[in-house]
Amino acid sequence: MSETERALGKSGVSVPALGVGTNRWNTGEPGQARLNETLAAAVEVGMGFFDTAEIYSFGRSERALGVAVRQDGRPVVVASKFAPLPARITAAQFDSALDRTLKRLGRESIDLYYLHFPYSPRGVGTWMKAMTKAVESGKIRAAGVSNCNVAQMRKAADVLARYGIPLAANQVQYSLLHRAPETNGVLDACRQMDVALVAYRPLAGGAVSTGSRKRQGPAALAGTLQEVATTRDATTLQVALAWLLKRDDHMIAIPGATKPDHVRQNSRALALELSDEEFAAIDWASMPTPAR
Ligand SMILES: NC(=O)c1ccc[n+]([C@@H]2O[C@H](COP(=O)([O-])OP(=O)(O)OC[C@H]3O[C@@H](n4cnc5c(N)ncnc54)[C@H](OP(=O)(O)O)[C@@H]3O)[C@@H](O)[C@H]2O)c1
Repeated sequence: MSETERALGKSGVSVPALGVGTNRWNTGEPGQARLNETLAAAVEVGMGFFDTAEIYSFGRSERALGVAVRQDGRPVVVASKFAPLPARITAAQFDSALDRTLKRLGRESIDLYYLHFPYSPRGVGTWMKAMTKAVESGKIRAAGVSNCNVAQMRKAADVLARYGIPLAANQVQYSLLHRAPETNGVLDACRQMDVALVAYRPLAGGAVSTGSRKRQGPAALAGTLQEVATTRDATTLQVALAWLLKRDDHMIAIPGATKPDHVRQNSRALALELSDEEFAAIDWASMPTPAR
């Protein structure tokens, strides 16, 4: 595992600490050629970890990612997600959804497969049991959950453990404008259970550095990020990503990008080591209700 890689829990799979979210990738706009360039840029800068899902652009994100991966030819790590829609209640439906994902991606296996959300008439356990079969058949290398609270994480981990499979990751929203995983127990659970916390919307859709929300924390946050960015000759978004990565070793972030330049800029966060003082200043400034 290189210095900028992090483990997906105890799954044996490791990924770059920063990946690329592809929920706006599709075969229409912004155009396959630019997405191919975006993927190539990510591989070049050590961010070859791509996050997609069957429901992104109705499968077109998976298809566009598959095309870009084949065009590039270099090895990458790919994660996708199963959506437990209300009409989906059987393991056979899970199997065929995974098969369609593999077909759209043009692969025989994917590195990480998540349960996209826990809201399902069948509950988390049923889908984790289906995950174990997918691991055993070699169609997926690691099993994860997304948008799960601590109880749902533990349930998922318990079911997988019966088959000797570790829970690899919980993908949840986490940014300097959305720090709920620190207060709802998810970050602590990831540490205790040795599960990766994959942070989605880590840039708050780009708003993390503008302080656009009218609360004391974010307003102060914009200024503090700018101060650190100026000192470090970096951008505020790079500082925001570096803060997340320093927050915990279990953290992996997947900023969404459809432009090669955005990927290249984000990659600088991998080498941006914030000092403890810089980290603490950002920490304090981003707290919605500061403790002092
Ligand atoms: N599990 C879930 O339920 C869930 C939910 C939401 C998202 N996700 C995943 O998380 C990923 C990230 O979330 P997100 O895309 O919603 O939000 P995000 O990562 O916080 O922000 C993405 C936005 O930031 C822009 N951006 C990226 N790098 C930039 C840079 N260096 N300078 C300026 N702008 C930059 C992107 O622009 P361009 O597109 O123009 O490059 C895009 O508009 C998604 O792609 C998806 O894979 C998962």
